[in-house]
Amino acid sequence: MSEIAEQARVVAATNAAGAPPTAELHVDGLRVSVEGKPILDGVDLRVPVGQVHVLMGPNGSGKSTLAYSLMGHPKYQVTGGAASFDGQDLLALTPDRRAKLGLFLSFQNPIAIPGVTTVNFLRAALRAQGKELPAREFIARLGEEMTALRMDASFRSRYINDGFSGGEKKRAETLQLAMLEPRLAILDEPDSGLDVDALRIVADGVLRIMEKSEGRMGVLLITHYYRILENLTPDRVHIMHQGRIVDSGGPELAHLIEREGYDPYTTATSPPGTEVSRP
Ligand SMILES: Nc1ncnc2c1ncn2[C@@H]1O[C@H](COP(=O)(O)OP(=O)(O)OP(=O)(O)O)[C@@H](O)[C@H]1O
Ligand SMILES: [Mg+2]
Repeated sequence: MSEIAEQARVVAATNAAGAPPTAELHVDGLRVSVEGKPILDGVDLRVPVGQVHVLMGPNGSGKSTLAYSLMGHPKYQVTGGAASFDGQDLLALTPDRRAKLGLFLSFQNPIAIPGVTTVNFLRAALRAQGKELPAREFIARLGEEMTALRMDASFRSRYINDGFSGGEKKRAETLQLAMLEPRLAILDEPDSGLDVDALRIVADGVLRIMEKSEGRMGVLLITHYYRILENLTPDRVHIMHQGRIVDSGGPELAHLIEREGYDPYTTATSPPGTEVSRP
């Protein structure tokens, strides 16, 4: 074997052995308080890039709190545990650094930013992440994504979420997801308040973005309804109750919740947060 061929063989073998593991969100024993009130009580979760994980749970169980905490909202005080993505300690990073690392959050209740148009917002967000596109390419991509989400072109120049209907806000959040191409998308109830057609458009949109990423994007989807999962088949479903993940399973778990609700968890006699065993 020639020296070069031998070197190539050694390099290939080293790469195979030392290839970085798939990027993953790791949450270990995360505890979070809001205004002094403990909300998350030791959350453990793994979401690998390339998979869709669903987070369900009764109102007030802490799902949005987890989402905000992972993004670094200053109101949510981490009092214990750890969270990392792709081996990087998230808790040590400011929200913009977390976004740069590839985290994205679509809000349950998106806020309006009067004075900032959708087009300027998206350009600034891409620039901040070092993903700026030449103007013509940016406009073309924005047009494509808006068409796919059946958004009227007038939304480009409207102030972000200002006067948008509930359903329009959810589409605008999905548009941000499409343009920013994150590595981990946390979608907080992207399906709430949508009519049946809009629900299909948003679900198809997320699926399309997922497929386009070719396994480079993971999704943590917070939802109350099985319906969106008819389009987006999850790899795992997690149930949160009283600030903890109390059960995890396959897509059938979401089906079970749809049929039976959360009674098996909320009426358990075991102490809150204790793993509830299911038949
Ligand atoms: N800024 C805040 N100030 C006071 N309490 C808060 C704050 N944010 C969250 N909480 C409380 O934390 C608990 C969990 O709220 P959170 O929004 O995380 O629930 P959720 O699981 O997302 O519920 P939902 O399904 O209704 O969206 C609730 O009791 C809520 O009132
Ligand atoms: Mg919520």
